[in-house]
Amino acid sequence: MRLRNIPRAESVLGAHDKVIQDAAACRGNWRQVFAVSQPIHIEIGMGKGQFLLALARKNPGISYVGIERYSSVLLRAAERYEAEEEKPQNLRFICMDASKIEEVFAQGEVDRIYLNFSDPWPKKRHAGRRLTSAGFWQKYDRILAVEGTVEFKTDNRELFEFSLEQARETGWKLRACTWDLHGDAEMNRGNVMTEYEEKFSALGHPIHKLIAERTDKGNGRPA
Ligand SMILES: C[S@@+](CC[C@H](N)C(=O)[O-])C[C@H]1O[C@@H](n2cnc3c(N)ncnc32)[C@H](O)[C@@H]1O
Repeated sequence: MRLRNIPRAESVLGAHDKVIQDAAACRGNWRQVFAVSQPIHIEIGMGKGQFLLALARKNPGISYVGIERYSSVLLRAAERYEAEEEKPQNLRFICMDASKIEEVFAQGEVDRIYLNFSDPWPKKRHAGRRLTSAGFWQKYDRILAVEGTVEFKTDNRELFEFSLEQARETGWKLRACTWDLHGDAEMNRGNVMTEYEEKFSALGHPIHKLIAERTDKGNGRPA
């Protein structure tokens, strides 16, 4: 998703109290940022924020961080947040490219990563930019806590197959997987729809979902 450049985006986001301005300074200190010691879940490529806002409302016992590359898109999420009658306090936003995720989260600091309808980057030469390519799985492995998980949804069959393969090659274990989320009563229980999920399922596209867990539950990693 890339919206037309919106000149006021930078200034609005720069003044927004839920937009983190110096995310690298939070590295290793995210529980202090939220002033509460509770699990941290992040969404990478959050778009306009529908999914994360709904989760933050629903689960006050979890701290959420939404990451989006484009300020014009994050602006929409910030505006949506402002329109909330009761603004959830357990939510922060960062405008950044996820390739730098390790500059923002320390080893083992994150409990869950959501990837929803990530850009498919269909050309082979751009495969490394996919958020479920091997290099990203390795980064997720490092920032996740021992029992941390990645949850990924998409309607794109090729991207899903690629993601399964890359997860397996980088040593992840599948906890659950479906090629038809909305037809799978167990996996769909409590499902919160994203904007893209609403759009594509209305067109009749089946939604694929995987939940992957780290396999190295090993020594020296924060629980
Ligand atoms: C197709 S949209 C999906 C939006 C939302 N997750 C949903 O399901 O409705 C993908 C979003 O991911 C963002 N994105 C893609 N690559 C990114 C990256 N490397 N870092 C941060 N955001 C990224 C895009 O700007 C876009 O807003």
